[in-house]
Amino acid sequence: MEKGELIKILRRLYEENIKKYLKVIFLALFLSVIVAISTSSTAWLLDPAVKKIFLDKDNNLAILIPLAIVLAFTAKGLSLYFARTLIFTVGNKISGELQKKIAGHILVSDVQTLDNRHSGKYVGNIMYDCTQVQSFVSAGVLNLMKDSLTLLGLTCLMFYQNWKLAIFALLIMPVAAALVKSLGKRMGKATGEAGSVAGIVATFLNEIIKGSRMIKIYQREKDELKNANEKIDSLVDKNIKIAKILVRTTPIMEALTGVMIAGFIYYSGILISSGELEINQFFSFLAAMMLAYQPVRSLATINMAAHQGAAAAKRIYSVIDKPIQIKNENNFPDLKIKNCNIIFKNVSFNYQKTEEKAVKNINLNIKGGEMTAFVGHSGAGKSTIINLLPRFYDPQNGEILIDNQNIVNVNLNSLRKNISLVSQDVILFDDTIIANIAYAKLDATKEEIENACKFAAANEFIEKLPNGYETIIGENGIRLSGGQKQRLSIARAILKQSPIILLDEATSSLDSESERIVQNAINNLTKNRTTLVIAHRLSTIHDANKIFVIKDGTIIDSGSHEHLIGGCNEYKTLYKNQLK
Ligand SMILES: Nc1ncnc2c1ncn2[C@@H]1O[C@H](COP(=O)(O)OP(=O)(O)O)[C@@H](O)[C@H]1O
Ligand SMILES: [Mg+2]
Repeated sequence: MEKGELIKILRRLYEENIKKYLKVIFLALFLSVIVAISTSSTAWLLDPAVKKIFLDKDNNLAILIPLAIVLAFTAKGLSLYFARTLIFTVGNKISGELQKKIAGHILVSDVQTLDNRHSGKYVGNIMYDCTQVQSFVSAGVLNLMKDSLTLLGLTCLMFYQNWKLAIFALLIMPVAAALVKSLGKRMGKATGEAGSVAGIVATFLNEIIKGSRMIKIYQREKDELKNANEKIDSLVDKNIKIAKILVRTTPIMEALTGVMIAGFIYYSGILISSGELEINQFFSFLAAMMLAYQPVRSLATINMAAHQGAAAAKRIYSVIDKPIQIKNENNFPDLKIKNCNIIFKNVSFNYQKTEEKAVKNINLNIKGGEMTAFVGHSGAGKSTIINLLPRFYDPQNGEILIDNQNIVNVNLNSLRKNISLVSQDVILFDDTIIANIAYAKLDATKEEIENACKFAAANEFIEKLPNGYETIIGENGIRLSGGQKQRLSIARAILKQSPIILLDEATSSLDSESERIVQNAINNLTKNRTTLVIAHRLSTIHDANKIFVIKDGTIIDSGSHEHLIGGCNEYKTLYKNQLK
């Protein structure tokens, strides 16, 4: 990472996350001053200790000085304890705030953005990057304060004892710092890689748990294990790489310390024999130098920690800065439903810039309260058309109007409030049946929910469950059959009572017996409502007021069943294939 960018990110981290904890940080700074003073005084105390106790043999001080040393160390320990507690709390709070921001951003993100990004990356951001920022804020900030102050105190002491020797000691330190500095950049890169690999491992784990039945029936355990091993190995490699960079500072520092001590002893010898340095000063100086070792080492790695933290923060910011195209504009007027007429004017849409259009020049004129059906082979673009209405995606060309209001110019919440969607992939939460249905209307009464379930022909099976409506249905409803899940999702849509209803192969996982029951439920649901339906069985859309035949993203014909069966070849083939 470039220095300019590093500073920019750290400044942002400070402004957005750290600044509000400034009081706590100041408190920690104050405690750091105590650490610095107590550390320096332990080194200083060796001077009177050697002089008075060893050389002058002063009995009074023989007790006082050791006592003072105990005091100094206790003060140091206590202030370190409190400073660490404060700063680690701040670090974890900041990490939690970032995690909440990411989660909040995912919730309002465009469907398209979520489609395009591997879910493992989000896992990596939340689990890994936020922890990186936490450890940088905690360890980094505290070390910076405590170690630089301690170093300052010890340096003052060294100058106090003997300035020539002090200058000698100081000369060698910047060399060490420069050597360690170069490791910072590599560190940032390595932790970034580790973060995304960690995310990939997490998603993979999720997949092999979810896909357990498929893995078993195709007997792919060995391959998946190989896969798992590869992914985990790659994570291990990255982590080892990080560890290697991290420990690389140690030999450099150790070697330098050796050189320092050797030079120091040699030079001290010269000073002592020329009478410029006394033996008690020497010991005090030596202690100061030894104590300076840890802060120098820690400060030398601050740059690395900063790079690591900034790289993680950068990845987090790149997620939460991603602009949201389709969002609720509070100052936009609410959608006002009158007749619920829906118009598509020359609508074209492609999922990816480079790809071919999924739907092209769609013109629809749907009368409120009627049922409109879409038929066509799979991949024709039926779902795409339906997904444009609640603005899961916005078309690149053309416009969509509901009662003459362009849907991009109305408040998004008011638009979605008026639309129910039942699709072939039913999404259920690991919660009770009642909670899953009430998802459509949080303040629904028990009676409303039970009525909705009756209409959806779901009440019978629900009542047979061990805990009835309070039964927990498992992750994505794993404890229910496909048809049962679909009936729950229809009940949910019935409960919402919206004027517009979208049915995307809503009965595809039902057998014909339950489909007949559910078809009644759907008739209940859609009565006098504006319904756009994609049916996988054409027999269910006989009664539709109008049927659009979609092929390769365009409307090739439209009309009633009778009209189409007479003149539309595509429709005829679709119909014949089903009768077979
Ligand atoms: N999320 C998506 N990202 C990219 N392409 C998609 C996405 N969903 C569907 N498509 C593509 O758009 C075309 C129309 O798909 P879709 O509307 O789902 O067809 P249908 O519902 O008629 O089976 C297909 O070619 C499909 O591959
Ligand atoms: Mg579809």
